[in-house]
Amino acid sequence: MAVDIYAQINPPRRLLMGPGPVNVHPRVLRAMSADMLGQFDPEMTQYMNETMSLYRHVFMTGNQRTFLIDGTARAGIEAALVSLIEPGTRVLIVRAGRFGALLSEIAERIGADVLTLDLEWGEVATLEAIENAFIEHRPRVFACIHGDTSTTMAQPLEGIGELCRKYDVLSYVDATATLGGMAVDIDGWSVDVVTAGLQKCMGGPPGSSPITISDRAAEHIFARRHVEKGLRSSDEMDGTRVRIASNYFDLAMVMDYWSEKRLNHHTEATTMLYGAREAARIMLEEGLETRFARHRAAGRAICAGARALGLELFGQDAYRMTNVTGIWIPEGVNGEAVRHRMREDFEIEIGTAFGPLAGRIWRIGAMGYNAEKHTILHTLGALEAVLTAEGFEVSRGAGVDAALAAWNGV
Ligand SMILES: Cc1ncc(COP(=O)(O)O)c(C=O)c1O
Repeated sequence: MAVDIYAQINPPRRLLMGPGPVNVHPRVLRAMSADMLGQFDPEMTQYMNETMSLYRHVFMTGNQRTFLIDGTARAGIEAALVSLIEPGTRVLIVRAGRFGALLSEIAERIGADVLTLDLEWGEVATLEAIENAFIEHRPRVFACIHGDTSTTMAQPLEGIGELCRKYDVLSYVDATATLGGMAVDIDGWSVDVVTAGLQKCMGGPPGSSPITISDRAAEHIFARRHVEKGLRSSDEMDGTRVRIASNYFDLAMVMDYWSEKRLNHHTEATTMLYGAREAARIMLEEGLETRFARHRAAGRAICAGARALGLELFGQDAYRMTNVTGIWIPEGVNGEAVRHRMREDFEIEIGTAFGPLAGRIWRIGAMGYNAEKHTILHTLGALEAVLTAEGFEVSRGAGVDAALAAWNGV
């Protein structure tokens, strides 16, 4: 039988202006082409320690236990939830978009007693609503999304840690879509476990999930580790002893691997670690505040440009993520035809949507390496031409002009 060996990988040069993945910073790609090291080679363990230290700055935390989970952002979510909760644990989850729904789905698989604070897609939860739910349901764990790319809204998290401590609740936050673009202020918020990904504002590829764990969450997780030949957990809940139901995602084991004990667990995904380390170095060289300001300028420019084209934005200005913007598809315009022309004629990808917003909004992202003035001006210029071709009347040139002025803070 003839063997088809296909062609070498040679992807088209697309500009990825959707909700992620985005184009990877060339320095990250270069770092990822370096050769392997043995996992206990002193150079490798040194790189691991450096990566932990770099991500403490990225997460704005002093948490000793700050490292990488090997896998996409969802791996980080699953590791956090399976390690924090067990069958019967009462968990309160904010569900205001696709990724809040993902949290509840994972918690249900674990067998948790899942309670949800359900909101319309695009809404955010108030501290008051969360406190009322704490009083009513007395959860052990609270979980929410910081920036839900499915709605492009950011959940405010100021005061959340204090509230959780008042009610003895452990907190988990998914910051996949905001880390590297908006302040993910772990110590300021006092949240317990936070996970992320690289493929959005960190300007890396999907496949590594940075995580940070507070001391009190680490204590809780270590208390669940099984003792006596793996038959029992030392954590007693409702009189039953349950161990962490995953080996790969058992954070007690993963924490030991990333500690000076270096207890072998998995083989660290060396290439992803090189990429994650470089992505963090780039971010810290730029400076957190400068980087957040760059993403804010990008968000401002996209909003102003889209409005000047006569488009309406989805969601509330007060809670907008700075790095991805939802735009209503105008009446009579075929959203998929626009995306197709953007890709085929301009090599630009913009995002579609999910669930109740599917076919109703586009999502334009400017994240990490792509949160730049020129990428936004190219995208809006292309969008103007495409909308015109699709029969939607726009004021020619207005989008780019407005975006430029907004980028410059005019
Ligand atoms: C907020 C949020 N959480 C989680 C994920 C899942 O990430 P991954 O596809 O890397 O597993 C995404 C991906 O879009 C996301 O936007």
